[in-house]
Amino acid sequence: MGIQVHEQEKRFVLETANTEYQMKVTDIGILQHLYYGRKVGGQDMSFHVIPFDRGFSGNPYELRLERGESLDTMPQEFTGSGIGDFRVSSLSVIGADGSRSCDLRYQGYQIKQTKTAIPGLPSLRQGGEAVTELHLFLADELVDLRVTLVYTVVDAKDVITRRVVVENASQDTIRLEKVSSMAIDFQYGDFDLLHYHGRHCMERQMERLPVSHDTHVVGSRRGMSSHHENPFVILCDKETNEHCGDAYGFMLVYSGNHKTEIEKNQANSTRLVMGIHDENFSWKLGGGQVFYTPEVILAYSAEGLNGLSQTYHRVIQDNICPPQFKNIQRPVLINNWEATYFDFDTQKILDIAQSASEIGIEMLVLDDGWFGKRDDDHSGLGDWFVNEQKLSGGLKVIADGVNALGMKFGLWFEPEMINEDSELFRDHPDWVLSDPGRKPMMSRNQMVLDMGNPAVVDYLFDSMSKVLSSAKIDYVKWDFNRSMANVYSTILPADQQGETAHRFILGTYDLLERLLTAFPNLMIEGCAGGGGRFDAGMLYYCPQIWTSDNTDALSRLAIQHGTSYGYPVSSMGAHVSAVPNHQTGRNISLQTRGVVAMSGTFGYELDLTRLTEAEKAVMRQQIKDYHRYYWLINRGVYTRLTNPHEDKYLTAWQFVAEDGNELLLNAVVTHLQANPIFPLLRLKGLEEAAVYQLVGSEKTFTGAALMYGGYVIKEIQGDPHDDQRGNYPAIQLHFKKI
Ligand code: DGJ
Repeated sequence: MGIQVHEQEKRFVLETANTEYQMKVTDIGILQHLYYGRKVGGQDMSFHVIPFDRGFSGNPYELRLERGESLDTMPQEFTGSGIGDFRVSSLSVIGADGSRSCDLRYQGYQIKQTKTAIPGLPSLRQGGEAVTELHLFLADELVDLRVTLVYTVVDAKDVITRRVVVENASQDTIRLEKVSSMAIDFQYGDFDLLHYHGRHCMERQMERLPVSHDTHVVGSRRGMSSHHENPFVILCDKETNEHCGDAYGFMLVYSGNHKTEIEKNQANSTRLVMGIHDENFSWKLGGGQVFYTPEVILAYSAEGLNGLSQTYHRVIQDNICPPQFKNIQRPVLINNWEATYFDFDTQKILDIAQSASEIGIEMLVLDDGWFGKRDDDHSGLGDWFVNEQKLSGGLKVIADGVNALGMKFGLWFEPEMINEDSELFRDHPDWVLSDPGRKPMMSRNQMVLDMGNPAVVDYLFDSMSKVLSSAKIDYVKWDFNRSMANVYSTILPADQQGETAHRFILGTYDLLERLLTAFPNLMIEGCAGGGGRFDAGMLYYCPQIWTSDNTDALSRLAIQHGTSYGYPVSSMGAHVSAVPNHQTGRNISLQTRGVVAMSGTFGYELDLTRLTEAEKAVMRQQIKDYHRYYWLINRGVYTRLTNPHEDKYLTAWQFVAEDGNELLLNAVVTHLQANPIFPLLRLKGLEEAAVYQLVGSEKTFTGAALMYGGYVIKEIQGDPHDDQRGNYPAIQLHFKKI
């Protein structure tokens, strides 16, 4: 396994536990893609490449007499541009003489036994695992551009990562107009594309559509990975479903502008190109300079979409998220945002903490409004010092008070933003992204700091460090509440303005890295108006991300379902909030809200001081249950059993322990029926012959009966007069092997 090089044929075979990936160098040095998928035992797959003259697809000069040999139809690993491949390109370069053509030919390779880090960018962590890395060197000799394709094979995790390093080996300056992280050509197959679109409060809604003869573009130009399109897509066969069939995943480890192009060409082959969005991107690469792209995590599953998701879940947990939070139970938290919004003082927060501790909550998070002059969203961002008028005694009084109750304390920041009405803006108006002479677009009354400016990052590091050292603060919620516009940096010359958006992301990563180095035990929860930056780049620094500003349990079913295709439940912030829900006005029982929020990093977000004794009792039990199921939920194998976009009556999902010893079945009734038809759920991952007891009852079932016969859900009628059932009853059933 790992990497095999067939020197004679110039063929490379990459193998993981269940997948195989092949490429080959042609006689004229073109790097062809041969195969990706289920293992084929190393068989040379070049018989798949059948040269054929399709007309209007010209030939490289050396092959001008062989009219079937065209870059336009050949499956490739990465392309230059302007030289006769008329599909979407991987790279776009302007040479010193203005020429836009780039012809990349193979030069050689190198194999390493360790994962190489990418300067300034998050990427897969090697952890304790064996990895092998293949560096394939390509070059355009004329421009003197060196392009290294880096492949990391993580055998045990069944993934391959890809990225690109571009070096200008000439003396001249060249411009990069597009640099993708990867490209792949599937010569055969008729695919569906799954992507995760959405909007604020409705992130990652899954859409499945046929790949047709044109180019589909999934991307964001908002300066953030966005609520609107996630940097994760799946290509799968038409027949593929949740439990069987071929599926390929592509996940960009990046938090800024991104673009994935999927093109089906004249001969029905499908090209996928993924990387930083090229719109408004341009990078000036001086002689000897190097550009690093972010990484893409590729996975293939022959076991349908759940199989693919399970691969990503493990990789994100073990090789992306900060390792220090993997084996510890994260605290059940109370966040004051939906309880108070900006309207609080020290006493109010301490009262909430007191009520929280009485029901077993383990951390209080003080959200927006504790700093500068911040009583609404018109002012204060950038002024990261406590508002002593609002919080007499400062943060220390609150932190100490919360700690005295045996709870941890966490704090909200929105580091990359600034209000016009702030001391920071009055002192440094030039630190804002803004076009010269033009009024900037405003959003939530705020503007965006130029994170590409090291002075800005230094200021944020110093001011945040001061706050974080002023009291015992264990957690930070890192928010980001607008899309970027007027992307102009005052510290860059005119011909480098196209670098601003990427430099911004590098600055953000730098700040995160510096803070985590200074405060290694700090747990950062990512957030961007909910899940606007729910991506593997942020997950590298944050073990969890606030999934959505929409806390309505029914909406959350689809949001968490969509998120689960690429990201584990252990990364999804999920809270029980008040009813009627603040985003939808819907009433849902506390029981159902609890079941949904437990499939995430569990917490509460409502005014606990107003609870009835009965509600407190339910919450106390929920927290106990969450602790009981913590490792099953956090490290168990998560499986989607239904699709909330298609299944009319019920949304269901399960967690099964890796050893198959226990299973937690969750289901929420989304539409009530009169004279109901009982849904049948076929459970997964149990031992056929083992006997499982439904915990809390005398009932037992064989694994085979639960998996192949299925479990019938009969608790599907609501009762609006019963606080626990309400209109959308939920069940949570625990099966244990006996
Ligand atoms: C958006 C976040 O998603 C909310 O949870 C809250 O922190 C607000 N921002 C505060 O401004």
